[in-house]
Amino acid sequence: MCGIVGYVGPKPALTYLLEGLFRLEYRGYDSAGVAIQQGDAIAIRKKTGRVGQLSQLCQEQPIEGSTGIGHTRWATHGEPSDVNSHPHTGGNGEVVLVHNGVIENYASLRNELREQGYVFRTGTDTEVLAHLVAFELSEEIKMGADPSRTATNLKAVESALKRVKGTYGIAVLFRDNPGTLIAARLGSPLVVGIGKGEHFLASDASPLVGYTEEVVYLSDHEMAVLTADGMQLLHRDGGAQTPDVKVLEQASEDLDLGEFEHYMLKEIFEQPTTIENALRGRLDEDEATARFGGLNLDPQQLRRIDRIVLTACGTSWHAGLVGEYLIEEFARIPVEVEYASELRYRNPPMTDRTMIFAITQSGETADTLAAMRECKRKGHPTLAICNVVGSTIAREADGGIYLHAGQEVGVASTKAFTAQVTVLTLLALFLGRMRHLSYPAGKRIISHLQAMPDMLRRTLECHEQVKTIAEKYYGAENFLYLGRLYNFPVALEGALKLKEISYVHAEGYPAAEMKHGPIALVDEDTPSVFVVPKCNIYPKVMSNMEEIKARRGPVIAVACEGDDKVADIADDVIYVPPVDEYLQPLVTAVPLQMLAYHIALLRGCNVDRPRNLAKSVTVE
Ligand code: AGP
Repeated sequence: MCGIVGYVGPKPALTYLLEGLFRLEYRGYDSAGVAIQQGDAIAIRKKTGRVGQLSQLCQEQPIEGSTGIGHTRWATHGEPSDVNSHPHTGGNGEVVLVHNGVIENYASLRNELREQGYVFRTGTDTEVLAHLVAFELSEEIKMGADPSRTATNLKAVESALKRVKGTYGIAVLFRDNPGTLIAARLGSPLVVGIGKGEHFLASDASPLVGYTEEVVYLSDHEMAVLTADGMQLLHRDGGAQTPDVKVLEQASEDLDLGEFEHYMLKEIFEQPTTIENALRGRLDEDEATARFGGLNLDPQQLRRIDRIVLTACGTSWHAGLVGEYLIEEFARIPVEVEYASELRYRNPPMTDRTMIFAITQSGETADTLAAMRECKRKGHPTLAICNVVGSTIAREADGGIYLHAGQEVGVASTKAFTAQVTVLTLLALFLGRMRHLSYPAGKRIISHLQAMPDMLRRTLECHEQVKTIAEKYYGAENFLYLGRLYNFPVALEGALKLKEISYVHAEGYPAAEMKHGPIALVDEDTPSVFVVPKCNIYPKVMSNMEEIKARRGPVIAVACEGDDKVADIADDVIYVPPVDEYLQPLVTAVPLQMLAYHIALLRGCNVDRPRNLAKSVTVE
């Protein structure tokens, strides 16, 4: 949450800062701001609302200079307002900084700084940090240090950060030290882009695409001093670090909307390709298994595993539920799916044969990272299923599997979900083939997986029909989503999609659970979305559907092509191609993504930037 950018070089900083903020807007869009060094002052422009509004402000009140920082905010402390927007000023304007994270001990620090005469004008925790850096700078100056020297400013940042509890990614400018930018991280991501005679900073790699291909990901407790010509990397507790320069693996097409009106729709339509990418090079037809390059565990270690914990948040947690069914069915290994926010503070019994998988699109989710670190600390092999290459979770895990889905820009996760389910299917196949799964069964799974991209292409043909159904139901204020077995997590995911982008209340349930309470919600104004492709317990799900109809509840069904029986009961049917039960989530999730998208559009909601949300949740 919150996006940070920075630039030092020969060019006007504003161009990169604004473009970078546009690309990072998915991380938060409550307000945006920039600060640029102009001679011996630092000019600030900031505004409530989107980056577009900031850009407009910068046209009206131009701001020049070639060293600058910028921020797009997801509010934690202090409501979204002009005054609470970043950048924030410390002291009498000698320090200006932007921050992503939470300063947990801000209240006690603020009291202390007030006693020292510092005046607070905002409701943010970040202003405390800005004043704290200014205070530490004044202490250095008292000791005779020169404020125009980088070493003095670095010391001030270092001393301030040692007093802070919480998380931060920061970029700091010092009025008296032009042409220098100091960055530091603990818990919130930062990446430095190395250009020719210029340096860039960003919360993730997306702003750097097109500017440079050489990047350095900062680790926790690291600080970077950036000037046009150089980058100095240090550990907060002293000592130079050698930067590990990586090649940027992101493509600019990911950020291009192409023929689509919104990123969410573009990403829904990318799913045949993203599933293909998740499978590429991972199917071993000779051995009837899957293969992965980065698990970093030898077969003996893998065979010893007698329990798996999948931990994640939100949509990734739903993918984990599908993973649980898959792994238990194919590999007969007991699996638990834990909310990362719970796991990080719980102490469930785990043995040295328990393996952990953190599932995450962004690789930056604070709860997932904390849960993973806690398991790692206890000595468990801890792996990641992750989309963003070079993200914190990807780097800290002992090994893992990348999704290769390309950047997901829409806040509502779509293609990452189906890529996660694809990778979990491969993992189940792989673990299964090390145990009970026979060669012919492995071969069959491989051939079904190979057919999935085409099945997804066929599924996408339901788009126009889903749009028509959305027009019929978009006024409803409550929805139930119901499915069983592999389609229960899909029901949860369908309900989450609708809630997050259309602000309509929706509940996902195992279809048979509905009669234990939620059926009380059913009336003629509450549609139920049944995920009911042909499966072992298809007749049972049909009975659940009858129970809703008997109470005059409208029913939208997602069913297999050619299923006429469903059409006799449901009011509306969306047909998807028939696939094996364990692969059904890949096709049944798609119409539910589309339904949420069209309902949100018809209700006038911003589908790519839903209110109160951010793509990457880097606070607890
Ligand atoms: C999905 O639509 C949500 N925006 C959200 O639940 C998301 O899946 C969750 O925050 C986890 O994110 P991650 O996969 O990046 O860890």
